[in-house]
Amino acid sequence: MASPDALAGHLASIVQSADDAIISKTLQGIITSWNPAAEKLFGYTADEAVGQSILLIIPPERHDEEAQILEQLRRGEAIEHFETVRVEKGGARRHISLTVSPIRNARGEVIGASKVARDITDRVRGERERAELLAREQAAREEAEALNRSKDQFLAVLSHELRTPLNAIYGWARVLSDSQLDPKLRARGDDAIFRNAKAQLQLVEDLLDVSRIITGNMRLELRPVGLKPVIETALDAVRPAAGAKDVELRSTLDPAAKTVLGAPERLQQVVWNLLMNAVKFTPRDGRIEIDLRNAGSQVEIVVRDTGEGIAPEMLPHVFERFRQGDTSTTRVHGGLGIGLALVRHLVDLHGGTVTAASRDRRGRDVHRASARGAGDGARPVRGRRGSRRIAGGPARAGGRRRP
Ligand SMILES: Nc1ncnc2c1ncn2[C@@H]1O[C@H](COP(=O)(O)OP(=O)(O)OP(=O)(O)O)[C@@H](O)[C@H]1O
Ligand SMILES: [Mg+2]
Repeated sequence: MASPDALAGHLASIVQSADDAIISKTLQGIITSWNPAAEKLFGYTADEAVGQSILLIIPPERHDEEAQILEQLRRGEAIEHFETVRVEKGGARRHISLTVSPIRNARGEVIGASKVARDITDRVRGERERAELLAREQAAREEAEALNRSKDQFLAVLSHELRTPLNAIYGWARVLSDSQLDPKLRARGDDAIFRNAKAQLQLVEDLLDVSRIITGNMRLELRPVGLKPVIETALDAVRPAAGAKDVELRSTLDPAAKTVLGAPERLQQVVWNLLMNAVKFTPRDGRIEIDLRNAGSQVEIVVRDTGEGIAPEMLPHVFERFRQGDTSTTRVHGGLGIGLALVRHLVDLHGGTVTAASRDRRGRDVHRASARGAGDGARPVRGRRGSRRIAGGPARAGGRRRP
C-alpha cells in the first residue's frame, strides 16, 4: 500500500493534470489552491489567486450566491453540478458547472471546500442559440398561420363582395326579361345593372392592380401634373356617396401648389381611395376636409374626416393588403381591404410616402396619414388622414366607383 506521502503526491498530480478547474478555499472564502486548469479557465495564475477572496471570480450581482454556498458547506452539504456564471481576469463571463464539496480535518470538522468548475459556455451558448432559433421559427410559423387565416378571411370577403353586385344584376335581369315591363322600372333596372356591373368590374380591376404591383408589372407613365384638377375630379366622383349620407366635403386647394411628376389617373386613384374611405367611415352629417398645399419643396395632400378614426392596434396595418378594421361577416362596410394597399404602392411608385393616423378617443388630432410623391425637384403628394371612427352603423357608402 502506498505511503500517505506517495498518495498525496499522486493526488496532487491528478489535480495538476485535470481538465477541470479545481480550487480549494477556506470557510471564509479565501482561496488556498488553484490548479493549472483554473489558471486556464479564469486567467489568473495560482500566485495571483491563492490568498485572495473567491469573490475574485464571482460577478458582483452573484456575490449572494457565495454566501449561500458557504452556508451549505458549513452544514457539511455538497453542491453538485450547479450551473452559474463566473468572471475571468479580463472581465468576460463564463458559464460553468460547479461541484463544491466540504473538506474535513482529521476530526471530521469542515474546514474548507474544494470546487470543481467545468466550462460550459459553449454548451450554454448553443442552447441559447437553439432556443432563439426555435423562437424565431415559432414566430415565423405563427406569422404564416396568421397570413393563411387572413387569406381564408379574404376569400370569404371576396366572395361576398363579388356576389352582392352579381345578385343585383341577376335580379334585375330577371325583372327585365318581362316584356310587359313598365318603362320606368326598365330604366331603373338598366341603371342598376350598369352600376353593379361597373362596381364589380372596378373590384376586379383593383385586384388586378394589386397583382400587377406584386409581380412588379405596374408601369406608370409620369408627366407633369397639377394636383388641383386631380383632386377636383376625385371629389366629383365621391360627391354622390357623400351626399347620400349628408357628409359635407370641404376642400382647400392652393392654386399655387406645385405641379408634380406623376400619372394623373393613378394619382386620382390615390385621392379617390383616401376620400372614399373617409366617406365610408364617417357617419351621417359628418365632415371631410381635403387640403392641397406646398410643404417646403414638396406638395402635400391632407384628408381628414370626423369619423371615429382607426383603432391604434389597427393603425400600423392599414396599408397592408386585405387588412380591415372589421372583418366580421356582419360588418357594415363593404370592401376588400385593398384600397390603402393600392394607395401605398401607387404613392411608392411616385417616390412618395403615405402614413395613416387617427384621433384619440378624446378627439385630439394625434393620428394622421400622409402621402408624398416624387416630382421634378418639386416633389408631390402628401396626404394626411386624421379621422375618428364611425359612431353609428350607416349603410355602406357608394360601392366601388372611381373617377
Ligand atoms: N378614414 C378612415 N376612418 C376609419 N377607418 C379607416 C379609414 N380609412 C381606412 N380605415 C380602416 O382601414 C382599413 C383598410 O382600408 P382600405 O381602404 O385598404 O380597405 P377598405 O376600405 O376596407 O376596402 P376597399 O378599399 O378594398 O374597398 C379599413 O377597412 C378601415 O378599417
Ligand atoms: Mg378603401
